[in-house]
Amino acid sequence: MIYVTRRAEFAASHYYHNPKFSAEENRRIFGKCNNPHGHGHNYAVEVTVAGEVDPATGMVMDLKELKKILEKEVLDLMDHRFLNKEVPAFATTIPTTENIAIEIWKLIAPKLRIGKLHRIRLYETPDLFVDYLGE
Ligand code: NI
Repeated sequence: MIYVTRRAEFAASHYYHNPKFSAEENRRIFGKCNNPHGHGHNYAVEVTVAGEVDPATGMVMDLKELKKILEKEVLDLMDHRFLNKEVPAFATTIPTTENIAIEIWKLIAPKLRIGKLHRIRLYETPDLFVDYLGE
């Protein structure tokens, strides 16, 4: 088994709010992130695919294809977007780094024809990242 990774960067804005919490609870739990006008982040996503090297090509998969999938499924949807308002999944799910990573997994996994999605690593630059391994 070998692991290949493709990285892409995007920028997006979001805020954290749970309609089941009171206004006071939202402020206490989410702090500044609760401001409904949102705030921006630069993100970097790394998509790792696990597979075997095809002896005919020397590759697990065509990494240009992985780049295309990443651009079409993730960047076209999220880059320079207000995640809560413009990405349907985040109308009802709080767009934390964790939930964005899970959503990226859901978008990419069904599009892979070769290999198996192994990990989504999402950086909220500069100083944190989350890993999602599909469960
Ligand atoms: Ni934030």
